[in-house]
Amino acid sequence: MKTRFLFNIVLVVMVVCMPGCKKKTPAPTEPQAKPEAKEARVMSANEESFGKTPEGREVNLYTLTNTNGLRAKITNYGAILVSLEVPDRDGNLADITLGFDALEGYLAGHPYFGATVGRYANRIGKARFMLDGVEYELAANNGENHLHGGIKGFDKVVWRPEDLWANDNEALLKMSYISEDDEEGYPGNLACTVTYTLTKDDELKISYEAETDKTTVVNLTNHSYFNLAGQGNGDILGHELTLNADRYTPVDEGLIPTGEIRSVKDSPMDFTLPMTIGSRIEQVGDGYDHNYVLNSGGGTLALAARVYEPTSGRVMEIYTTEPGVQLYTGNFLDGSLTGKGGKVYKKHYAFCLETQHFPDSPNKPNFPSVVLLPGQKYTTVTVHKFSTR
Ligand code: GLA
Repeated sequence: MKTRFLFNIVLVVMVVCMPGCKKKTPAPTEPQAKPEAKEARVMSANEESFGKTPEGREVNLYTLTNTNGLRAKITNYGAILVSLEVPDRDGNLADITLGFDALEGYLAGHPYFGATVGRYANRIGKARFMLDGVEYELAANNGENHLHGGIKGFDKVVWRPEDLWANDNEALLKMSYISEDDEEGYPGNLACTVTYTLTKDDELKISYEAETDKTTVVNLTNHSYFNLAGQGNGDILGHELTLNADRYTPVDEGLIPTGEIRSVKDSPMDFTLPMTIGSRIEQVGDGYDHNYVLNSGGGTLALAARVYEPTSGRVMEIYTTEPGVQLYTGNFLDGSLTGKGGKVYKKHYAFCLETQHFPDSPNKPNFPSVVLLPGQKYTTVTVHKFSTR
């Protein structure tokens, strides 16, 4: 795999270099396009250093660019989406995800900005569950509950780069991680991959695969914080949201689902028709932090959400094979974190739409199963599609 990876890097360098070389010696008859515009016509994937972890492990920053200039930066530390630049209705690019300019920001601790979350995204009540008659105890890192994979979840490990390439249609980065048996209390060695693909059709596709050698539970997601007006650029209360979900899973004070699946009808939870996020947010305590039950039921790639930001005209649609999505409105952001470009992240400065299986599913027999058996393959896909209007 290593050889293949190196080979791919070489290919990428060729893809990136060829148009660059051409640019230096333009033919006299060649139209005088702006250098940026010209660069933006090439699908590319490349690698640079992003520093070292405290243990001395080298970490990289990968950049995927498409022919329309969309650009995703990803680090293999936590398989984190570091930035995502997307055009507005006038073609101006802005980075629409919260995060940090340097690795140090991520190492210092943060609320999962852009991170790949696992082995189990979201909460497991009382940090325990039963599987095949055995009780497994997990790290309790959110009061008495387990959150986002525990103390050192998949967001804080170094992923191994496996593939990096670009062709005419897409630019791709694949990373892998082996979570050992008993890591954070979970049973089984779990071999996982996450693949980011930026397509020529302005989609960022994130796909996950996992296999285990012992019966376990798996729920992987991406925890990007979006602000379609540009990261750090005010709150997201004026963003218009539509969710393809008639029902949600109500929670107790610890944000653990009660097990009920309730209709959103006649409540501030209803986003079945486009509504600004802020229109009823005051009726839901600190803000939204709820799992919606997608009408698709999961299993096939289906439209889960659409978000429109009126000042920039940016639209993001989310398609997923997952049965649920967590709407989280940055309720715990409090201005104490300074992110990219010196921007201060305040309450409701971003929203997350974390595609997932429902929280606490290992303890809720009526929720779709999250159990993975040896010999089975866990595969899920989520697509973020960008456009403007
Ligand atoms: C998820 C949870 C929230 C919060 C954030 C991280 O979205 O549902 O309650 O923990 O992650 O701060």
